[in-house]
Amino acid sequence: MTRHFLVDTDLNPQEQAEVLDLAAHLKKLPYDKSTFAADGAARKTVAVIFDKTSTRTRVSFAAGIAELGGNALIVNPGEAQIGHKESVADTAKVLERMVSTIVWRTYEQAGLEEMAANSSVPVINALSDDYHPCQLLADLLTIKEHKGHLAGLTMTYMGDGANNMANSYLLAGATAGMHVRITGPEGYLPPADVVAAAKDRAELTGGSVLVTTDFDAAASGADVLVTDTWVSMGQEEEKAQRMELFKEYALNEDALAKADPAAIVLHCLPAYRGYEISASAIDGPQSVVWDEAENRLHAQKALMVWLVEKSAQEPLRETA
Ligand code: CP
Ligand code: NVA
Repeated sequence: MTRHFLVDTDLNPQEQAEVLDLAAHLKKLPYDKSTFAADGAARKTVAVIFDKTSTRTRVSFAAGIAELGGNALIVNPGEAQIGHKESVADTAKVLERMVSTIVWRTYEQAGLEEMAANSSVPVINALSDDYHPCQLLADLLTIKEHKGHLAGLTMTYMGDGANNMANSYLLAGATAGMHVRITGPEGYLPPADVVAAAKDRAELTGGSVLVTTDFDAAASGADVLVTDTWVSMGQEEEKAQRMELFKEYALNEDALAKADPAAIVLHCLPAYRGYEISASAIDGPQSVVWDEAENRLHAQKALMVWLVEKSAQEPLRETA
C-alpha cells in the first residue's frame, strides 16, 4: 500500500518516532541511505512542485534528495500545467509513471488528497493552507535534540491560531505525547475538527490539548515557545488588519518571562522581527531556530526513505 504524508496524523505515534530516529541517524551519517539509487531499477527522480514561494523547503528537499542519491525536479510556481491547464488527477497519473515521490506545496488540502488518491507513489505535503507536517518533523527533531525527549513537554504556540502551523503543532505535538497549547485572539483559533483529532491522539499518547485566548495561561511554565508569521502566504491583502489583530500574542520578553526559564524558542521562518517575534527572542540564547531550519533537511530525508520503503512501488510499466 502506498503511504502518503498529507497531514501530521498520517504517521501514528510509533511511526513518527521511527521517522525521527531515522532523521537523527541520517544527521550523523548523511549518506547512510541511498533510497533513490541503491537498486538499478529504483526511480531516482522526485518531483518537488511549488505553487507558493519557498526557501527552506526548496533547498532542504533538493539537498536531501541529492544526498540520498536521487535527482530533484523542482517545479516553480506557474511553470507546470497543473491547476490551470490540467487536473490534479491527470497530473498524478503522469508523474506516478516517472518519479519515485511527489512533493507538493499548494493552497488547498483537497488538491493534495486528489493527488494522493491518483498516485501509486508517495505524495508529501510541503505546506498547504491547512497543514505544514514536514516542518513539524523538523521541529520535533529539534526539540528532542535540545530537551532529550518529547512526551510530557509543554509546547505553546502563540499568534495566528487559525493557520497551517497551528494545526500541525496540535496534531504532531499530540502524536508525540506533548501538552500542546495554542493561544490567539477569538476567531483565530484552530477549527473544531483539528482540535478533536488532536485530542484523540493525545488520549493515545498521554499528551493534552489546550486552546485558549488566555495568553498568560498558555505561556505559563512552557518548555517550548513557538510562533509563526501573522500573514501567511495568500493573506497579503489582510496584512494591516492582521498586524493589529495579533499584537497581544507576540513571542517576546513577556512570553519568555512567563515560560519555564529553560524554555527554547522555535519559529519555522521566514520571521518578521518586531511583529510575531521580538529580535531578542529569535536572536537570543534560548532560540534554536537555525537548528530547526537545518533539521528540515534531516527530517525530510528520513521521511522520504521511510515512505518509499513502506510503499511497495509498482515496477515501471512495460509497453505491450
Ligand atoms: N519554513 C518554511 O517552510 O520555509 P519556506 O517557506 O522558505 O520553505
Ligand atoms: N504560515 C506560513 C508558514 C510559512 C512556512 C505560511 O503559510 O505562509
